[in-house]
Amino acid sequence: METNKNKVAIITGGASGIGFAIAEKFVQNNIKTIIVGRDQQKLGDAKNKLGELCDSFSCDLNDLNEIPKLVSKIISKHGQIDILVNNAGINMKKEFTEVTDEEFQKILLTNVTAVFALSREVVKHMLQKGKGSIINISSMASQYGIPKVIAYTASKSAIEGMTRAMAVELSPKGIRVNCIAPGFIATDMSAKALNKDPERKNKVLGRTPMGELGQPSDIGDAALYLANGEAKYVTGIVLPVDGGNSIGF
Ligand code: NAI
Repeated sequence: METNKNKVAIITGGASGIGFAIAEKFVQNNIKTIIVGRDQQKLGDAKNKLGELCDSFSCDLNDLNEIPKLVSKIISKHGQIDILVNNAGINMKKEFTEVTDEEFQKILLTNVTAVFALSREVVKHMLQKGKGSIINISSMASQYGIPKVIAYTASKSAIEGMTRAMAVELSPKGIRVNCIAPGFIATDMSAKALNKDPERKNKVLGRTPMGELGQPSDIGDAALYLANGEAKYVTGIVLPVDGGNSIGF
């Protein structure tokens, strides 16, 4: 079994919610973990909590020009990148006809284009080593139709397609690419979407056979599995971690 010691992972949006929980699992399992986000203060606090196996880099991933520089900086400081978790994402709940072109584009920029741009730069490096693991994060919004999240749904459906396209092209070269589709997980993002909308929350719980929201650490466990050697024959999958929500009646 390969060891995690000396492995280096990047987690985007790693200072909060699901990204932070993935970072916690990685650090607990000896993976050097680099969290990337926009807010220096939040990054600093998260880094302090995660300890010496964590480093942080500040970058707004919507600035696509900054992405190659970010990857170069990480490689010059840490020497390698073995794992990339494309976790950063934004949501917006709004009636279909109220969504402006700018809002739609902004969600696609963060949730799709920046994921592509960062993956491309990291893959250039992984190809030199002939190995790597990439984990994308989609959503129940790409498993079935959810009203009032048109741009988010388009973006997360794109992520699942990109996962398969990347997996077929990159797996022969040693890079596994997988996706986790979280169900409804207790974070700031889901609180914003559900807490002022009891009807939606009841609907979510009503079709979740396990009857409760998931915890960010549930996604952390799945990401750790996909990232490390135990999943060495797993590529191109979309793994729902959802308490059964995607198959619920
Ligand atoms: P969150 O809002 O707590 O975390 C998202 C992180 O991404 C934040 O740290 C934010 O600063 C960062 N981020 C956003 N835009 C960025 C940018 N331009 N540059 C750098 N960092 C940026 O949300 P949560 O819930 O932890 O979500 C994480 C991922 O999981 C997202 O991709 C989300 O779509 C997905 N997800 C969440 C679910 C939930 O129930 N919470 C369900 C399904 C998917």
